[in-house]
Amino acid sequence: MGDYKILVLPGDGIGVEVTAEGVRALEKIGHMFEHNFTFTEDLVGGAAIDAYGTALKPETLEEAKNSDAVLWGAVGGPKWDDPRSPVRPEQGLLAIRAGLGLWANVRPVKVDDALTPSSTLKTETLRGVDIVVIRELTGGLYFGKPQERRTVDGKRAAVDTMYYTEDEVARVAHYGFQLARRRKKHLTHVDKANVLESSRLWREVVMEIRPEYPDVEFENVLVDAMSMHLIRRPSTFDVVITENLFGDILTDEASMLAGSLGMLPSASLGALRTDGTGLGMYEPIHGSAPDIAGKGIANPIGMLRCTAMLLRHSLGLEREAVALETAVSSAVDAGLRTADIAGQGDRALSTREMADAVLERLV
Ligand code: IPM
Ligand code: MG
Repeated sequence: MGDYKILVLPGDGIGVEVTAEGVRALEKIGHMFEHNFTFTEDLVGGAAIDAYGTALKPETLEEAKNSDAVLWGAVGGPKWDDPRSPVRPEQGLLAIRAGLGLWANVRPVKVDDALTPSSTLKTETLRGVDIVVIRELTGGLYFGKPQERRTVDGKRAAVDTMYYTEDEVARVAHYGFQLARRRKKHLTHVDKANVLESSRLWREVVMEIRPEYPDVEFENVLVDAMSMHLIRRPSTFDVVITENLFGDILTDEASMLAGSLGMLPSASLGALRTDGTGLGMYEPIHGSAPDIAGKGIANPIGMLRCTAMLLRHSLGLEREAVALETAVSSAVDAGLRTADIAGQGDRALSTREMADAVLERLV
């Protein structure tokens, strides 16, 4: 029995629809397992730009710091897409990741056997796929300075900076090795060390740490080759560590193994307490999907799996997390599908119907 404070930040587009289902899941779990969740909700992203002129209010960040966990929907949409605008929805996401020090983005990619037909890849390629990508989340091109427009000889130019310190690399490396140790004991480090100096630093630091984990099998893979191996031999990977932008791109690719972007959760974590839990933010890897926003047809599974990760990583409620994950799998196994994963002849459920199907199976 516990009392937990959850900050709910639905954001824009389908973020609003799926986050509502995450909250319902927590309410039901609270009821079943006798926990008391207190929810605070606020605007972020485009919705916050419209209401307050900024994508993340400083008060919202403070509220996050005073919470046990943050449930995040998605941000962005065509209304706020002007590349020259000084305020953009994505700034809110980057500001909260940086502000909470959430440097490890944990993105599990596990293929549900029942869903292999909805992937564009062959079933035999997908058998046994169970990968966790650890994406560095508060460094690299997303945060390096300078990041600006310039005028050079009267022409437009722009610069982004991929900057990393050894400590930023080392903490991701240790996290990856330790996670691999608890799983299939295999770690893949992805970089572009044949070209980038920052990648050569990553490789150097990771190789220095490697002897501390002699029981973990290890490989370095270049990011271009990794994008190929991910769809050629996905079942050979276990834990993957990589810098921010490579992780962003590779995890969208990896989501196709699971059939849909809508299936995958992520946990953004920083400093951990001694019991292994810590303040985290839970974000499905799909975006705001403006094309289907407001229609009530988005897949809530990525969000429900986020909710399970929240229970596990921030609240230490393993039994509750497993109960929710089991309910998701059993709904999928029973053939229940939203439009993004429906096969020919399947009835496509609404967001609410799919979430209900999961919650009914919670035991
Ligand atoms: C993600 C998203 C974000 C990112 C965007 C919305 C800024 O693509 O979480 O993967 O690039 O990190
Ligand atoms: Mg992304």
